[in-house]
Amino acid sequence: MKLSVVILAAGRGKRMRSRLPKVLQPLGGVPMLGHVLEGCAALNPDQTLVVVGHGGDAVRSAFADEAIVWVEQAEQLGTGHAVDQALPEIPDDHVVLVLYGDVPLVSEATQRRLAEAAGDAVAVLTAEMPDPSGYGRILRDQSGAVTGIVEHKDASPEQRKIREINTGLLAAPARQLKDWLARVDADNAQGEYYLTDIIAMAADEGFPVKGIASQVPGEIQGINNRTQLAEAEAILRHRRTEALMADGVTLADPSRVDVRGSLRCGQDVFIDVNTVFEGEVVLGDNVRIGPGCVIRNSCLSAGTVVDAHCVLESMEAGEQARIGPFARLRPGTRLGIGTRIGNFVETKNLSLGERSKINHLSYVGDARVGNDVNVGAGTITCNYDGANKHQTVIEDGAFIGSDTQLVAPVTVGRDATIGAGSTIRKDAPAGELTLSRSKQTTIKGWKRPVKREE
Ligand code: UD1
Ligand code: CA
Repeated sequence: MKLSVVILAAGRGKRMRSRLPKVLQPLGGVPMLGHVLEGCAALNPDQTLVVVGHGGDAVRSAFADEAIVWVEQAEQLGTGHAVDQALPEIPDDHVVLVLYGDVPLVSEATQRRLAEAAGDAVAVLTAEMPDPSGYGRILRDQSGAVTGIVEHKDASPEQRKIREINTGLLAAPARQLKDWLARVDADNAQGEYYLTDIIAMAADEGFPVKGIASQVPGEIQGINNRTQLAEAEAILRHRRTEALMADGVTLADPSRVDVRGSLRCGQDVFIDVNTVFEGEVVLGDNVRIGPGCVIRNSCLSAGTVVDAHCVLESMEAGEQARIGPFARLRPGTRLGIGTRIGNFVETKNLSLGERSKINHLSYVGDARVGNDVNVGAGTITCNYDGANKHQTVIEDGAFIGSDTQLVAPVTVGRDATIGAGSTIRKDAPAGELTLSRSKQTTIKGWKRPVKREE
């Protein structure tokens, strides 16, 4: 079967009250339209066409790298008109699968069922709704065969009682679709060219129409406003956390873990509440993530523990590292096996050797630190001279006393010791004690100031 997917995304999304086109609103960290594209890519279509109108330039540039045939619908004259704009690009022997840019959670399985059913029929995705108002209703004859779809605004009071609705998604052979759409008019309550009118045309011609019932909870959720966007986010969150738990991950509370991207976990991983994962994150066996952490594009090896309230970005940790609480590890941080990063420590472009520790209140950036190094509380690498960044090197076994400033470029040699409170501007030799310190003096008989009487 040759397949063309047409994604309708020309609508303005007025009810979002946003400057951003609706299909670019983020859902699970990705623009809504990205989910639709990802879903249908799994079907391996011969081509994917996206119909854009409002904010079309922004939509195009957001997906500039994808193989998409862009179709312009200058005026939004209805769903039938929108599909019609794409048809000149589609060969007659294709099946056309119509998806909506604002219905982003439709499963790959459902898309496949629709496309496969449409080899010699029109297939419409339907659903039973407790409250069907606003939706098009599925009309059936006594035998149960689908005879048409009536829009809510055009429906009689009797028809409005029907709870089987049109989700909007359908598939049909291109040859017939072209013929039917050429005959659709805008003679209805909204003065629009309805895609749904092709169903009655097909039925009248005796062309088979199949109603395919959606079986995946939440997948037909459309997004027209911020409330529905949050609902869709919750559905997506639920899907992702269910998948993690099925893989053996323990989540303290699945409703309080957000995965905005992909999260791969080894065995017996534990993730506490209010954690956010963005981009690509990999957690090895037995990794534990404490509450309130944000982890982006990072990889933590087996046995690593991240305590509460850490922010990690584009970093890696070797096995059995311990991080936090309250650490901020910025891009380019690479922690060796068994390292320790304590509270209120910020790092960036740091390579930290095995078993080394930076336990309290430090900034270490643009630095290469060897194995078994102890960096004392309050140590700062002065890596920036106002114009350029410079490198600090601390070799194996060095001990950096508390409250030290290392003015880069500078090297601290192997097993060197730096006395507390030093400002180190020149290389410190291996094995020796280096310190910079003003002499301690005592002013005899000095008195504290006393408060003046008014
Ligand atoms: C449509 C269906 C209705 C169904 C409902 C499900 C028709 C006539 N009606 O109604 O039966 O129950 O979806 O949500 O098809 N769009 C364009 N160009 C246009 C018009 C729409 O690209 O000229 C896009 C919109 O951006 C949106 C989608 O098509 O993504 C659906 O349009 P919308 O106006 O929301 O359709 P409904 O009136 O809700
Ligand atoms: Ca809609």
